[in-house]
Amino acid sequence: MTNATTQQIAVIGAGLMGAGIAQVSAQAGHPVVLRDVTDAALQRGLDGIRASYAKFVSKGKLTAEEAEAALGRITTTTDLGAVAEADIVVEAVFEQLEVKESVFRELDKLAKDGAVLASNTSAIPITRIAAVTERPEFVVGVHFFSPVPMMKLVELVRGYKTSDHALAVARQFAEGVGKEVVVVNRDVAGFVTTRLITALVVEAAKLYESGVASAEDIDTACRLGFGHAMGPLQTADLTGVDILLHAAHNIYSETKDEKFAAPEIMARMVTAGDLGRKSGRGFYPYEK
Ligand SMILES: NC(=O)c1ccc[n+]([C@@H]2O[C@H](COP(=O)([O-])OP(=O)(O)OC[C@H]3O[C@@H](n4cnc5c(N)ncnc54)[C@H](O)[C@@H]3O)[C@@H](O)[C@H]2O)c1
Repeated sequence: MTNATTQQIAVIGAGLMGAGIAQVSAQAGHPVVLRDVTDAALQRGLDGIRASYAKFVSKGKLTAEEAEAALGRITTTTDLGAVAEADIVVEAVFEQLEVKESVFRELDKLAKDGAVLASNTSAIPITRIAAVTERPEFVVGVHFFSPVPMMKLVELVRGYKTSDHALAVARQFAEGVGKEVVVVNRDVAGFVTTRLITALVVEAAKLYESGVASAEDIDTACRLGFGHAMGPLQTADLTGVDILLHAAHNIYSETKDEKFAAPEIMARMVTAGDLGRKSGRGFYPYEK
């Protein structure tokens, strides 16, 4: 394995997650190329990274020089051909199988031999993404959490054909950017984390829908009873009710397990536009 910090990283998608992954990678010393489809998306991503570094500097967790140096290690491009130099490619585009499949088909053509192709998907089986490539043994799930610079966890996911080598490279990368990893040995839909939170949110929404308890009391029960930092309905509002409904549909369609059958209220909320914090109302109202 090459020296960790000299590994070139390519991040595909400069949204919330991609920008965060580029940020922590550059901070750990990696040269990073960040790719999105438009210059506007790249600019937004870079602005977010700059603002986040500035926050770390103002809190004394990073010096201004370190932040400048890290920023200097990030280049942006709309050209996917830029992945040719990368040792590790981390894909963080929209959570849609067709979009990810088309990105991985291209990566398979453009990435160098031996490059590890990682996906930040929250719930799509890695085996399905890997299947569109001629090198499934190099495809691995590297699931970061939001906000990336703050959240310590990375869930590493082994697809059906992921090699020990690819998993080891992914582990070294994730630990090198300061994260703690858990390994998911079989890429069941939702892996471990999305499966757990989806089951909890679905059950909480069912209890709320059937009037068993108020949203506040359901969340308080989890916070004070189990020591959770946030209740499940608050988490749903933060993550997006639409995102969790989509995750529940995906996991249910793979498993046919009733505990992932989302209650009607979640579908009604999404249809009505009550998506959580981002829309100003979910299980709770928010100031826009
Ligand atoms: N948001 C979260 O809390 C979270 C947490 C963990 C994992 N994820 C996963 O991370 C991935 C990205 O999520 P996000 O929240 O950053 O989404 P986002 O919508 O903020 O960003 C996605 C970015 O991908 C870009 N994109 C789309 N197609 C592209 C392509 N072909 N090439 C390059 N860029 C492309 C879009 O322009 C956009 O900038 C998803 O798979 C999501 O499930 C999200």
